[in-house]
Amino acid sequence: MKIITVEALSEIINRHGFENFMRDLIEVLKQDFIRWDSFTKMPRPAIHVDGGVLELMPICDNKQYYSFKYVNCHPKNPLIGLSTVVATGQLSRIDTGYPLLFSEMTILTALRTAATSALATDFMARKDSRTLVIIGTGSQSEFQVLALQLIRDIKEVRFFDIDTHAMDKFEKNLSNHQFKLVRCKNAEEAFEGADIITVCTANKAQVVVIKNDWIASGVHINALGGDTVGKTELELSILSRSRITVEYFDQSFIEGEIQRLTRKDAKKFVHAELHELVREVKKGRENKNEITIFDSVGIALEDYSALRLTYELAEEYDIGKELNLTPVTQDPKDLISCVLY
Ligand SMILES: NC(=O)c1ccc[n+]([C@@H]2O[C@H](COP(=O)([O-])OP(=O)(O)OC[C@H]3O[C@@H](n4cnc5c(N)ncnc54)[C@H](O)[C@@H]3O)[C@@H](O)[C@H]2O)c1
Repeated sequence: MKIITVEALSEIINRHGFENFMRDLIEVLKQDFIRWDSFTKMPRPAIHVDGGVLELMPICDNKQYYSFKYVNCHPKNPLIGLSTVVATGQLSRIDTGYPLLFSEMTILTALRTAATSALATDFMARKDSRTLVIIGTGSQSEFQVLALQLIRDIKEVRFFDIDTHAMDKFEKNLSNHQFKLVRCKNAEEAFEGADIITVCTANKAQVVVIKNDWIASGVHINALGGDTVGKTELELSILSRSRITVEYFDQSFIEGEIQRLTRKDAKKFVHAELHELVREVKKGRENKNEITIFDSVGIALEDYSALRLTYELAEEYDIGKELNLTPVTQDPKDLISCVLY
């Protein structure tokens, strides 16, 4: 079984090139969303604890691979020097059930979340979008910018976080790019001239990070932080003004911005699941005046795609350590000899 540590993943990304990895991930996601109906999937089981949530995300393609990710979200972790979100994951072959790969997935989560935002934004944002707004400049934020600038000609990135240190970090990490960085005093100021908005703040509560009054027509919003029960970021009245796409209705209705709606209203306001845009069954946007929302919660399919690509590249570049996390025996029925000799 191949083990991909943070260092091994970093080596894969640097050998392949960050931009190539992101472009390939967007493409792999596209291929996998097209195969949506062939996967066995379920809304993720979540266990809520004081200050956080622990989640397990399984999926099977019924042909080759099964994968799962373990992930948490503890928004107060940075106060004690820890990340809000960390994750690990596994890819297994389905013919024998044997694991193939066990990987770090904290960075892979940021990569796949950004690649999924880019995929959705490509179908939903106006083609002439030039100004990107980021609210919440924590761990996910730079990945979002680097993915979104691959699908639109972004000239200006306006950003705000309640933590000035997080804004300093964001500014420093993105200083060597073509787009202009504009540091803002609050979210409302950041929204001036916005075409695409990514909201990725972390609070284990229903908060109003974005007010309805601030949203102009024609804007596309990637709402990432409303991703578990009792955790949302948008003022509720924005939803009824917008064309909403979710990843997977059954999970999003429990965890997304739409969790606050009745099932009847959620069915009315949710225009599509992302696979329907990718398969071109439905349109992400009809005209330049619509407000579109990608109400993202993160689903197992996206982790499957990230693990599939990581496995292929790890094999191609011969990166990652083979370790016996499953027993190697001469006689498969003689398990005890692995420990008693
Ligand atoms: N949808 C998905 O697939 C997906 C995937 C990963 C993470 N997430 C979610 O994205 C969010 C961000 O994750 P992260 O890893 O970047 O967390 P993080 O803790 O590293 O960053 C969150 C940032 O939000 C800022 N913030 C909090 N409240 C704010 C407010 N009112 N206005 C402006 N800034 C505010 C914090 O200061 C912090 O810098 C989390 O809620 C997480 O659950 C979603």
